[in-house]
Amino acid sequence: MTELVHTRKELAAARDGLTGTVGVVMTMGALHSGHETLLRAARERADHVIVTIFVNPLQFGPNEDFDRYPRTLDNDLEICRRAGADVVFAPAVSDMYPDGQPTVRVDPGRLGEGLEGHSRPGFFHGVLTVVLKLLHLTRPDLAFFGEKDYQQLTLVRRMVRDLDVPTEIVGVPTVREPDGLALSSRNRYLSVEERAAALSLSAALRAGVEAAEQGADAGEVLAAAHRAFDSGTPGARLDYLVLTDPDLEPDPLAGPARMLIAAWSGTTRLIDNAAIPLAPRS
Ligand code: PAJ
Repeated sequence: MTELVHTRKELAAARDGLTGTVGVVMTMGALHSGHETLLRAARERADHVIVTIFVNPLQFGPNEDFDRYPRTLDNDLEICRRAGADVVFAPAVSDMYPDGQPTVRVDPGRLGEGLEGHSRPGFFHGVLTVVLKLLHLTRPDLAFFGEKDYQQLTLVRRMVRDLDVPTEIVGVPTVREPDGLALSSRNRYLSVEERAAALSLSAALRAGVEAAEQGADAGEVLAAAHRAFDSGTPGARLDYLVLTDPDLEPDPLAGPARMLIAAWSGTTRLIDNAAIPLAPRS
């Protein structure tokens, strides 16, 4: 049985009824198989699963897609039921932010300034603030986040460590379409042509992984990824393509690394990333 609750009071009552370990999956709705994989991972690790569905205004810039972000609650509930969620918390904005926009927010610090933080100022303040609020409201033992949003996952891990939140953060690998496109709620904005161009992101990452597997160094890996991006279906516009260490510290020259990419296809901004196995320093 999946219980749908809307207010923090209802959530508190539902949470009090759960015994054993609790896992939370936080989402903005418009659920797809990527979210469902998070739910199933939670189901496996925890006795009870809470899903939150909240399109958080705090993490959208003034020219971003808050108003047109897809809201598909009935379909979302169906997926939550199918995946065995115990509680779905879908609050109104006025319930999450009863005093309007909060004056106190979580500062993501240096790790939040680059990449997504650079292209979307204030984004991670909004994300971490709502994640911390939802952690307090749901009081989970475990919280599941997708590697798809790698900088977000890294920052949430960091926040929980730095601010002593008693929740284990579990990262879940990215779920992709058979042709490589990472699943995203925003994929539904893409026209047929834009979707074809969007494949340039995963193609770039794949080329980077293959180059690394063949022993290429960091510079060669980046060059291979750029070449693959440029030779994809025209139309994608690169925002950034970087190679970092797995903790998002800059410039790994050897060993395990992460490649992160962001690009526009039409008016839709997409992100993706992959682990890159650079050869160890000799
Ligand atoms: P949303 O974009 O709805 O994503 C919710 C969770 O699903 C995130 O942890 C995200 O990384 C994960 N996810 C999305 N697509 C995925 C895919 N293809 N494979 C695996 N996991 C995937 O991320 C957010 O919402 C918000 O910023 C939120 C954390 C809920 C705070 O508002």
